[in-house]
Amino acid sequence: MEEPVQVGPWAAEAFVDYERLLKIFGAKPLTDAEVSHLERLAGGSHLMLRRRVFYSHRDLDVFLSMYEAGYRCALYTGRGPSGSTHLGHILPWIFTRWLQERLGLDLFFQMTDDEKFLHEERLELSESNSYAYENALDLIALGFNREKTHIIIDTEDIGYLYSIAVRIAKKITYSVQKATFGFDDSTNVGLIFYPVLQMAVSFLPTELYGEETYVLIPAGIDQDPYWRIARDLARSLGYPKPSQIHNKLLPGLGPEGKMSSSKPETAVYTTDPPEVGARKIMRAFTGGQPTVEMQKRLGGNPDRCSVYKMYEMIFEDDDGRLRERYLSCRSGALLCGDCKAELASRVQRFLREFQEKRERARDYVEMYLLRTKFEAPKRR
Ligand code: TRP
Repeated sequence: MEEPVQVGPWAAEAFVDYERLLKIFGAKPLTDAEVSHLERLAGGSHLMLRRRVFYSHRDLDVFLSMYEAGYRCALYTGRGPSGSTHLGHILPWIFTRWLQERLGLDLFFQMTDDEKFLHEERLELSESNSYAYENALDLIALGFNREKTHIIIDTEDIGYLYSIAVRIAKKITYSVQKATFGFDDSTNVGLIFYPVLQMAVSFLPTELYGEETYVLIPAGIDQDPYWRIARDLARSLGYPKPSQIHNKLLPGLGPEGKMSSSKPETAVYTTDPPEVGARKIMRAFTGGQPTVEMQKRLGGNPDRCSVYKMYEMIFEDDDGRLRERYLSCRSGALLCGDCKAELASRVQRFLREFQEKRERARDYVEMYLLRTKFEAPKRR
């Protein structure tokens, strides 16, 4: 029997078999035609598209046609604020920001301080709530547009979601909820209700604009179970089905697994002092050989290397240079120490610049909050 893949809303690995995941979740691989369509509408290309960091979708084609036909469209993504932000978290946000700019779309961003409080034994509500504000600084530092970015903090902005949520909730039985999210009799009832709130945001833009709005959700495929139910119910509730585009997870700097806060030495946080970030890279596990002599003779394996993946997924925009790096690693000409040192200096520079913007963001977080711009929708 095959090993079960640990990817679901509350468990995920990296270097997973993405082909298999697609089959399990029933999503579609992103085709060249869809990528070109998006690039044409965006008037350019993004490394995460070209290299299929975003690699699968549901109804991206429908979303793009609706966008092109002039229908109202919006983006939606979110974050469970259970701690500090690391590079694995901002990876999909970098792409989302590009989409926002290139397609001129509003972004609805959900901070699920309720979800993380309910899910994490150790977390007080006041803590997940203050992480929501801390994490918002990271979002803002990435350069999202202030007029077009609307942050929803669940415990504070529930009035925007609740009337949508109860209409969803009435259509979902406990048995569907159990089967979809793996809940059992010992799950607290807060968590059993929570998914409805995550679904509700995908319908919120239609309510706020008072017009059918097509929503695209960039997210990890682990979030797919939410949208599966949301899509099933959408039409019966009077909303378009939300579309999704899924990203691969950034590997952690250790020998296995995604970049994760449960292994802080394998994660580069946006708040790590730049030299600490650089040091973490220098200590990263690579796809290299145990000795220099063997590396020169046998070459390394960039396909299983957390350092190479950082270049590929975030830090090397130039396709030619990336290819060169790949080949010289394979041939043994490039040694891990040199490869890491170069990444470390890029990461260090990134952190330095990012942290300046992140500090400045404290002065205008308010302007990004949904509640400072929209009235809660009327009950239907
Ligand atoms: N459940 C997500 C998490 O744990 C947070 C989230 C809420 C989200 N809404 C979303 C993620 C929409 C992606 C898209 O991180």
